[in-house]
Amino acid sequence: MTDLLAIAKTLVAPGKGILAADESTVTANKRLALYGVEGTEENRRVGRDLFLNAPGIEEYLSGVILYSETLAQKGNDGVLFTKSLAARGIIPGIKVDEGTEPFPESPDELITRGVLGLCERLSGFHETYHTGFTKWRAVVRIEGDRLPTAQALVENAKRLATYARDVQEVAMVPIIEPEMLYEGNHSRVRAKQVLEATLKSVFDALADHSVDLSGVILKTAMVLSGHESGRMDTPEEVANDTIEVLMANVPASVPGIVFLSGGQSPDQATENLRAIAKAAKEKGAPWPLTFSYARALQEEALEAWAGKEENIPAARAAFLARLKKVSEALTA
Ligand code: G3H
Repeated sequence: MTDLLAIAKTLVAPGKGILAADESTVTANKRLALYGVEGTEENRRVGRDLFLNAPGIEEYLSGVILYSETLAQKGNDGVLFTKSLAARGIIPGIKVDEGTEPFPESPDELITRGVLGLCERLSGFHETYHTGFTKWRAVVRIEGDRLPTAQALVENAKRLATYARDVQEVAMVPIIEPEMLYEGNHSRVRAKQVLEATLKSVFDALADHSVDLSGVILKTAMVLSGHESGRMDTPEEVANDTIEVLMANVPASVPGIVFLSGGQSPDQATENLRAIAKAAKEKGAPWPLTFSYARALQEEALEAWAGKEENIPAARAAFLARLKKVSEALTA
């Protein structure tokens, strides 16, 4: 178990965070299409190379979450991505859930698939690619007082806990991500209640499944008014509510908490993180906090790249500039 704690601590080392580069093929193709890039396997590989082989990322990244397609791919230098990341001290991780499907008891909500055959898939990833950690994402949708239902929260939490227990058995750190969606017109007060209920279900399930909390990382959304609410919260509002909920619901034995960006702009995700880090320090939060963004770290670089080889240096410069800003926000 000591090894798990060591991996977890490395992932949340001061000033560093995690790049979420684990978009499924369908999602990766949709993101590429936004920038005029065709969704072929080769374009996805070249797009990953842009980020994963950018010189200097090791200053800001402790880990990268990969999708299974990327695990088996090589960079432009002919070296497996997982190998070149590890050589620079960046821990490769793998998304192991198999996406979502409607929850039969409440079909407007989603539950995450992938428990079946999980143990076999996990040992394959670990032994062949030396991954140090994994991710499983559950989705929590807010709609007025109707959603989420208690049943969906409990079912998703149960699956997260089953996953976490199986991952710890093969000596990897599970990232537990119950993602409360930003989409919707809910208030920040409602988001706060929902995050609270979500975390309660998750930590109850982790206790029921005897998961060692010192060997997990929590990945969470910030407490924000819904994207379609017409309200833009100040970073201080976001930070105070987020830290309050986390301090009331996340045991101190959890070695680290990381945030997803959830569709916030890169600047918004950076400024909210800055305020959260400050509030955590002021209120004596017991765990290190950092970023595990996908969109907020990638958007500007993908826009600069637009699928053209000659744009790669500018795209990498945009990526590095954003990493620097986000990393500096942690220690401001
Ligand atoms: O599952 C979500 C990703 O790990 C984080 O993505 O930062 O674009 O929300 P995001």
